Amino acid sequence: MKKLVILTGAGMSAESGISTFRDSGGLWEQYPVEQVATPEGYRANPKLVIDFYNARRKELLRVKPNKGHELIASLEPYFDVTVITQNVDNLHERAGSTRVIHLHGELTKVTSSREPDNPAYIRELKPEEYDVKMGELAPDGSQLRPFIVWFGEVVPMIETAIDYAEQADIFVIIGTSLNVYPAAGLLNYVPSRVPVYLIDPKEVTIVSGRKVHVIRKGASEGMEELKNMLLKER
Ligand code: APR
Repeated sequence: MKKLVILTGAGMSAESGISTFRDSGGLWEQYPVEQVATPEGYRANPKLVIDFYNARRKELLRVKPNKGHELIASLEPYFDVTVITQNVDNLHERAGSTRVIHLHGELTKVTSSREPDNPAYIRELKPEEYDVKMGELAPDGSQLRPFIVWFGEVVPMIETAIDYAEQADIFVIIGTSLNVYPAAGLLNYVPSRVPVYLIDPKEVTIVSGRKVHVIRKGASEGMEELKNMLLKER
């Protein structure tokens, strides 16, 4: 089976009703990124940050996977599919994708403020626990913090993601402005013989200069077109 690797960003979940970050009206226009998505912001005002992610978690309960997520999951009988996502929602999993690598963490999980990457402290929340309170502690006695990779923090899953990018037979990019590294650099690890497809309704600048098959459409429509192409060429 050919290895299909799909890198997704906020645009993947846009049609589910989750805001992107950098489009007009996007999240970083409403919330200063340095306040809610950096370790310094968290140190300065942990409650603000915890509440921000509580609100994002609550949103998860209202939204559902869109056609694009479902089409990606539907490719598993035909390809060895790996989803590498920058998204912290769980919509790929809920659509049925079985191998999902989260580069920037997961909203449904919490960890220790002191050692956020220590697997011993990373824990999945039950929906009734989604509203994390100040004073709720991790087993090491530190405040429970969202399991989110903030700007300036290491991205522990990048090595795993690079391994998959290097092994890809087909590489697909959906709904990301490719502004944030190291995720945006993954394409550099994809062998040059490998076909690359990009689905996005807007123009996205690819710095590597390699040939990319662009599908200038939203995630659902674009995935429909891509699925037809991939199944024909298989
Ligand atoms: N279908 C597909 N793509 C879409 C859609 C849609 N319906 N709507 C918007 N897009 C595209 C936009 O054109 C843009 O290229 O999604 C992309 C969203 O870009 P960003 O908002 O920059 O999101 P992303 O690239 O995922 O951000 C990366 O930055 O803030 C951090 O950690 C956060 O993971 C995030 C990272």
